Amino acid sequence: MQKIKVSLGARSYNIIIKNGIIASAGGTIKALNAARACFVLTNKKVKSLYGSKLRRSLSDSGLDTVFYTVADSEKAKSHTSWFRVIKSLAMFDKGRGVCVLSLGGGVVGDLGGFVAATYRRGIDFIQIPTTLLAQVDASIGGKVAIDTDFAKNLIGAFHQPKVVLTDTAVLKSLPARQIRNGLAEVIKYAVILDANLFLYLEKNISDILNLSPACLEYIVSRCSKLKAEVVSADEQEDTGYRSILNFGHTIGHAIEAASCYKKSLNHGEAISIGMMSVFDIAADIGMVSSRLSDRLENLLKQAGLPVEVKGINPYKVISATQHDKKIRNNRKRWILPKAIGHVAVCTGIPMDIVKRSVQKRVLVK
Ligand SMILES: NC(=O)c1ccc[n+]([C@@H]2O[C@H](COP(=O)([O-])OP(=O)(O)OC[C@H]3O[C@@H](n4cnc5c(N)ncnc54)[C@H](O)[C@@H]3O)[C@@H](O)[C@H]2O)c1
Ligand SMILES: [Zn+2]
Repeated sequence: MQKIKVSLGARSYNIIIKNGIIASAGGTIKALNAARACFVLTNKKVKSLYGSKLRRSLSDSGLDTVFYTVADSEKAKSHTSWFRVIKSLAMFDKGRGVCVLSLGGGVVGDLGGFVAATYRRGIDFIQIPTTLLAQVDASIGGKVAIDTDFAKNLIGAFHQPKVVLTDTAVLKSLPARQIRNGLAEVIKYAVILDANLFLYLEKNISDILNLSPACLEYIVSRCSKLKAEVVSADEQEDTGYRSILNFGHTIGHAIEAASCYKKSLNHGEAISIGMMSVFDIAADIGMVSSRLSDRLENLLKQAGLPVEVKGINPYKVISATQHDKKIRNNRKRWILPKAIGHVAVCTGIPMDIVKRSVQKRVLVK
């Protein structure tokens, strides 16, 4: 078992990582004195896999529990879905003190967190992330949000959970493409903060893809620790340090937007191409050698992630990078690699260099 603290003064909490932790979740939640009742937000697929185990554990600990399922897609993060959840939560609550528990991937985590942030001006929230992406990224750091028709995550808040219970055993039922989706973020952490993790990934990538429990526990723990440290240092992006987590995301998000969030390209796949693009930019301005880009390219390919995409208009991508929200004082900020494990925040990158890198990775056909 690993216990990692996110240090945020009165809002500090632990991420507890253990194979099989869902079976003992009730005791841990009860000990927190968070609430007498749990409103569990999930979807049908995750409920059918892990719902009964969680229900048993919560009821054995004397916690009154109700399960509420939402659509298994980004549509669950709509304002209509949010309001439906709030109404059901209010009916269950009856003023006795209830917490929201998200059991699922980042969709259920973001929605549950936003419900908890907004209901009665904020109630306790617990995360049980069940995708690799949610375990290493979305469940940590308190960013919670819902979408609008014109932008993702436009309505949101910072609302930290009371605890994150991470059960690496649930990753065995995750489709291979979802594992790769999370691996893109794992590789991102290694590139920005941890050269040893990068070496570990290079050495163990096939065992990771074969879901070796020891490898999964190692990468989930390491990435959770890295994210906990970044969030503890800059919870709400006041100093800009947290923005290093956005590595590969400016072009990655632009690719997702230009492809109209089509299912043919998921977030991790877009980020994989985005990371290669920023290595191209860094190589172009002489910050890294092309040998380093080759190392990243090899690892991404071995992880089954794309390093270029066809069928998307590169000019749409270039234009979308200009709408990225990571712009301060009218200056576009780029997180660029200096070496494996080190990045720098740079401004003033010439547009023709950005164009060249996008055109290399995003091909019309
Ligand atoms: N708050 C943050 O800091 C943050 C960070 C990154 C992403 N996000 C958000 O996270 C969302 C994406 O999250 P995601 O990639 O986890 O997607 P997701 O929540 O849609 O889950 C992916 C799929 O896996 C299924 N699934 C979940 N756990 C499973 C399991 N153990 N076994 C089998 N199937 C399982 C889900 O039902 C779903 O079909 C986006 O909405 C994104 O905006 C938030
Ligand atoms: Zn991401």
